[in-house]
Amino acid sequence: MKDTQLKKAEGKLGVLVPGMGAVATTFIAGCLLARRGLGEPIGSVSELGTLRVGKQTEGKIARIRDFVPLASLADLTFAGWDIFPDDALEAARHAGVLEEKHLALVADELRAIKPMPGAFYPEYVKRLNGTHVKRASSKADMVEQLRDDIRTFKRDQGVARTVAIYCGSTETYLERAACHQSIRDFNRGLLTNDPAISNTQLYTWACLHEGVPFVNGTPNLAADFPAGLAFAREQGVPLAGKDFKTGQTLMKTILAPGLKARLLGLNGWFSTNILGNRDGEVLDDPASFHAKEVSKLGVLEQILEPEVHPNLYGTMHHKVRIEYYPPRGDAKEGWDNIDLFGWLGYPMQMKIDFLCRDSILAAPLVLDLARFIDLASRANLSGVQDWLSFYFKSPLTAPGLKAEHDLFVQNAQLKNTLRSMMGEEAITHLGREYYE
Ligand SMILES: NC(=O)c1ccc[n+]([C@@H]2O[C@H](COP(=O)([O-])OP(=O)(O)OC[C@H]3O[C@@H](n4cnc5c(N)ncnc54)[C@H](O)[C@@H]3O)[C@@H](O)[C@H]2O)c1
Repeated sequence: MKDTQLKKAEGKLGVLVPGMGAVATTFIAGCLLARRGLGEPIGSVSELGTLRVGKQTEGKIARIRDFVPLASLADLTFAGWDIFPDDALEAARHAGVLEEKHLALVADELRAIKPMPGAFYPEYVKRLNGTHVKRASSKADMVEQLRDDIRTFKRDQGVARTVAIYCGSTETYLERAACHQSIRDFNRGLLTNDPAISNTQLYTWACLHEGVPFVNGTPNLAADFPAGLAFAREQGVPLAGKDFKTGQTLMKTILAPGLKARLLGLNGWFSTNILGNRDGEVLDDPASFHAKEVSKLGVLEQILEPEVHPNLYGTMHHKVRIEYYPPRGDAKEGWDNIDLFGWLGYPMQMKIDFLCRDSILAAPLVLDLARFIDLASRANLSGVQDWLSFYFKSPLTAPGLKAEHDLFVQNAQLKNTLRSMMGEEAITHLGREYYE
């Protein structure tokens, strides 16, 4: 049965991005170009993806954007916050991802997107000295100011719905604390300026208050604690995160399921990166790097299940490094050295050298997530949306559930969720009916 609750995607969709840096401006400029036919939205599942509907023999392949009601590119309206005053054109130039030949085509539209002053307590991002910041009497006051920004944006832009995709800098690693346990504890923490409440959490809380579906593209603690999950459910707001799955981790979750499926053993997986953008500069601070490291390390453990196969994966050494190297800018290079072993324990090695572009890989994810989290909201889904795990290094799940990291399982889950929203059967790949 089709989900009769699913509302149409009518009117404009406001897309708010806290953090108008490399990822956000590459995403915005790409959407502006694509909707005028001046660039191809490559890598976007919501633009280019297809899915099979019904039996293989029926031959029905649908475009995802025609199959489910999604906001059209033309209906997207962008705004954001940053701790520097550069408009989206200047920020994109500073990021150095897109070439002038692309930026010039949408320069006026980008210039018109000026960031709202950021909510910024510098102790969470030590390498940046923001100048375009709000003054507030407390963290509670800061949340109120952000809520005001959201309401003003909705009113001035006349959007029908709004979503937020967090693209701010990686913050220092934070553990869950007492203030994260309940909505009451969190509200008290806001009033008392609890140090366990970071900038990202202020944006998240403001969005939840305003009923804005929220996606966390960073490894930061945002709503992934009891108070955040309870507030999202209470407000009927869908959430997804965290940390966009792009370069090296994307490759890991493509490769590791294959090695595991063939039961090849692993002694070690050493990963290192060089990158020279602002994200790399922030990650040069060990506390911010630790937040990223935690997010990156969890991936292999879930895929390989060392507890089930101690002889194959029980002693695997997994190490991840990121080096800030300014000459590279956004053109990251990620190396992997994989020590594996096969039949009778004979050793082998595999080396991967991925010359990727961080923001070019992240931008289509932002587009898909903006559309899919809006879809979730129109389907009356609230709380954690684990069917969007496909997009994250460290997927959020319901408490007590293990995150799924295998890209192919995640892909099947995403597509089956879309099928089920439209009343179509899930595809199990059992295939026995074709032989009966
Ligand atoms: N590019 C990728 O492939 C990728 C993958 C996974 C995660 N991420 C994460 O996405 C985030 C953005 O990456 P990026 O390459 O665009 O970095 P960036 O440094 O270019 O952009 C981050 C922006 O956030 C701003 N900022 C910092 N604190 C803020 C605050 N409190 N309020 C408002 N703005 C704030 C900074 O001034 C900067 O402009 C980072 O946290 C990064 O780790 C990126």
